[in-house]
Amino acid sequence: MKRLLVTGGAGFIGSNFVHYWLEKYPNDHVVVLDALTYAGNASNLTALDDVQNFEFVHGDINDTSRVEALLREQELDTIVHFAAESHVDRSIEGPDAFITANILGTHSLLKAARQVWLSEGKCPLDHRFHHVSTDEVFGSLETGDPGFSEQTAYAPNSPYSASKASSDFLVRAYHHTYGLNVTTSNCSNNYGPYHFPEKLIPLVMINILHGKNLPIYGNGMNIRDWLYVEDHAYGIDLVINSGKVGETYNIGGCNEWTNIDIVNLICKLMDEKFASNDLLKKRFPTSPASAGKDSASLIEYVKDRAGHDFRYAIDTSYIEAELGYQPKVTFEQGIVKTLDWYLENEDWWQAVMDGSYQAWIETNYKAA
Ligand code: NAD
Ligand code: DAU
Repeated sequence: MKRLLVTGGAGFIGSNFVHYWLEKYPNDHVVVLDALTYAGNASNLTALDDVQNFEFVHGDINDTSRVEALLREQELDTIVHFAAESHVDRSIEGPDAFITANILGTHSLLKAARQVWLSEGKCPLDHRFHHVSTDEVFGSLETGDPGFSEQTAYAPNSPYSASKASSDFLVRAYHHTYGLNVTTSNCSNNYGPYHFPEKLIPLVMINILHGKNLPIYGNGMNIRDWLYVEDHAYGIDLVINSGKVGETYNIGGCNEWTNIDIVNLICKLMDEKFASNDLLKKRFPTSPASAGKDSASLIEYVKDRAGHDFRYAIDTSYIEAELGYQPKVTFEQGIVKTLDWYLENEDWWQAVMDGSYQAWIETNYKAA
């Protein structure tokens, strides 16, 4: 039985991970520590309100003494570290928050883990610090280049990826210097439920429903390797349970798409949903699909992202060979599941988008 601290567990991947983990390991103890930034959403976890061995703590990973107290008092032996500022565009507008959360925040957690597990001897042997990182640390590929492997040199291009790269190096250093039991995973683009609607896939889905333009940066030919979020959770599970201490593992979907192809696919799927469902036409009257028009008519090419990485792709051969990892959800299944989730969970994204969720945090968590 493990006792986990999941940082950033109210965010997109963190909350999917917590649901995955407690379903698979119902006797494990899970504490989520999340600052509930604009991207954190406590309602992602409300289904766990009555679960005895789950606790939500509203707090900041930069509060080192609070992290130490949690590790000590709840006798936690595993940290799964998701908490971060995660949106590239925001890092271009304002890098400071990324330095604070991603670099200083990771260092704060490492210090707390070292203090409690090693210096105080609470968990000297059987502890684990798993760091969740990104393929963006490797920079950008050209057409035909092999995918990023664990040996690819780091070449981050955005303030976001530079801050993640720095955090990866700190995690590595705490293993080599102090003997902390660490693992790191570098994953490609995730999609699925609870994805914050500033990111490409949920943004496009919701904009179609509202009849708003679908902004495509540059010429739309940039390529990403998409992975269903539950398969990321599964990969992390394998690394935590069977991965080698001190090792890094790349996780990916082997599923490369240009942005414009993804957007056209979502448009086509949405048009099909509306054609066979009159209720959708009533719910979303301003969507072109309600008038029998193509959702793709909303596509608008806009100014490119500064320093926009052209292509990401992951070579998954190491995690496949070492841990037997294979994604379980095909892209065809995952994108339909995701679209259905957004259609069924309008309350979730409306609250995020109209500001009522932020107002709820102010009322409920002001004192925390
Ligand atoms: P997200 O932005 O949806 O969630 C981040 C969460 O961290 C939020 O709940 C937020 O409130 C919390 N948080 C931020 N700063 C915090 C702080 N100082 N203290 C405590 N909590 C804080 O992000 P995501 O997309 O779920 O990504 C999670 C992790 O996975 C990140 O580390 C990211 O770099 C990495 N990652 C993401 C992707 C992807 O496609 N989204 C792919 C690979 C790796
Ligand atoms: O590769 C993993 C990374 O994937 C994670 O580390 C990041 O946290 C996560 O946000 C994601 O980064 P991207 O920048 O690839 O994701 P995003 O959804 O922002 O953009 C995907 C692609 O779509 C990218 O090429 C930019 C483009 N794009 C994005 C938006 C929001 C558009 O063309 N229009 C848009 O409006």
